[in-house]
Amino acid sequence: MDIFVDTADLDEIKEAESWGILDGVTTNPSLIKKAVDSAQGDMSLDKHIVEILETVDGPVSLEVTEIKQEKMVKEAETLYEQFNHINENVVIKIPVNTAMKEGDDNFEGVKAIKTLSETGIPVNCTLVMKPNQALMAAKAGAEYVSPFLGRIDDHIRNRIGLDRGEDYPKGIYYPSELTERVRDFHIRDKISKEELDDVVYQNQEVMDLFDWGNDHGLFSGIDLVWSMKNILDNYSYETKIIAASIRSARQVRQCAELGVEIATIPFSVIEDMMVHHKTSEGMKAFDQDVIPEYKSILDG
Ligand code: E4P
Repeated sequence: MDIFVDTADLDEIKEAESWGILDGVTTNPSLIKKAVDSAQGDMSLDKHIVEILETVDGPVSLEVTEIKQEKMVKEAETLYEQFNHINENVVIKIPVNTAMKEGDDNFEGVKAIKTLSETGIPVNCTLVMKPNQALMAAKAGAEYVSPFLGRIDDHIRNRIGLDRGEDYPKGIYYPSELTERVRDFHIRDKISKEELDDVVYQNQEVMDLFDWGNDHGLFSGIDLVWSMKNILDNYSYETKIIAASIRSARQVRQCAELGVEIATIPFSVIEDMMVHHKTSEGMKAFDQDVIPEYKSILDG
């Protein structure tokens, strides 16, 4: 599995690169803002971007800000022209759907992906929250699709009352079996067995619990990735999945078990992937047992 770091922070990118495990970087406007705020004007933004591109040999995603096809394509071309010659590794991030309110066009993102992929500019389709969006993006020619696992987990927990604010930090992992059981618990609470037939088709609240509006039977971010991977594999699309909005090392592991091609991971979660208290304990024991004769052989 390729590992990207999900940050625009140069120190984090350089550190992750020095570990020898880094295959790419993803940024978005919020991550750029965070990096610029913490760099406190040390460097101009274009120099900052150039340095990211020079630090990593793999793909670096830079996101557009407009919401209409022509303007997104124009921004993408500008970014690509200004930065791709640095290290030939710019990928343009386009939201799968730029609509922000009812009545907005839902297909501007897909149209921009189509145009850009036809001109040979690689696209990472972002803000993917359901498998059908990934299918659309793949059809339009996206090189990558980025499902947002953590944000879907947040949304599902919130919907079923598992979100308890600060007592339950984002890194806490809820497997889909648990969220499904909680959903079933709500359903049992709302309808008796006898009522089931009558009520289930009339009671919108109960129907919502079955369908969850837009989630269509998915119970976690991992479910989302699993579903879209099946779909893309079924039709042999070359579009690669970048598991994004990762909150925990367990999500990374489960993505790897599913054969997801890439995960873009916050710096702290990459660090967490390496830590186990039994490894540290084992190190201490080995360290204490080194006898001087052995050490002198090693020191040559
Ligand atoms: C993906 O490329 C995004 O930059 C990112 O993963 C979003 O993560 P968040 O939900 O933690 O903001």
